[in-house]
Amino acid sequence: MHSKRLAVVEVANNFLSCQAKEDIKEGSFLTDLWGRVSEKATRYTVKVGKNKHVDPEGMIRYMNHSCDSKTKFIYKKRKDVHPILADDQNVFWYMVAARDIKRGEDITFDYNVTEYEVAERFRCNCGAVKCLGEIKGFKFLTPEQQKLREKELSPILSELWR
Ligand SMILES: C[S@@+](CC[C@H](N)C(=O)[O-])C[C@H]1O[C@@H](n2cnc3c(N)ncnc32)[C@H](O)[C@@H]1O
Ligand SMILES: [Zn+2]
Repeated sequence: MHSKRLAVVEVANNFLSCQAKEDIKEGSFLTDLWGRVSEKATRYTVKVGKNKHVDPEGMIRYMNHSCDSKTKFIYKKRKDVHPILADDQNVFWYMVAARDIKRGEDITFDYNVTEYEVAERFRCNCGAVKCLGEIKGFKFLTPEQQKLREKELSPILSELWR
C-alpha cells in the first residue's frame, strides 16, 4: 500500500525515481515495505534480517538514495506474533515524511540505515551539502556517521552494530 501522492518518473535516460505528485506534510504515510524475501541482495533489495532481503514490489523499488533524505522508516513489531516466522520477519516497516515535501521533489531514503553493505556500490548524485560520495553501506561509515544514524537504523542494522 502506498500514498496516491507518489509517482514513478523517468528523471534521466532509464533512471527512475519516485516523486511527490502533490505537496506532502511532515508525518504523512508514504508507503509500507512488501515483497518476496530472498537470501540474495541486489541493488533493489532492502535488508530485513541476517540473510533476508525484501525485493520491494511497491514504490520503494524506485526510491533512490539521498544523504539528506526527507523520509524515515518506522519499524513496528507485529502484535500477532506468528509461531512459524522468525523474529525479524515479525517487524512491519513503513515510511513517513520526516519533513514537508514539495510537489515534484524526489522521495528518497538513506540506504545507509537499511543496508549494512550495498549489493552494488555507486557514486551518489544526491546533491546534498554533506553528500557521502560513494555509497557502500552502513558498515563503511565512520563512527560519527554511524552514530548520526542511530535513531533511524533498521532493527537488523542496530543488531549488527552492537
Ligand atoms: C533501488 S534502485 C533505485 C531506482 C533506480 N534509479 C532505477 O532506475 O531503477 C537503486 C539504484 O539506483 C541508483 N541510485 C540510487 N540512488 C542514487 C543516487 N543518489 N545517486 C546515483 N545513483 C543512485 C544506484 O545504481 C542504485 O543501485
Ligand atoms: Zn549523496
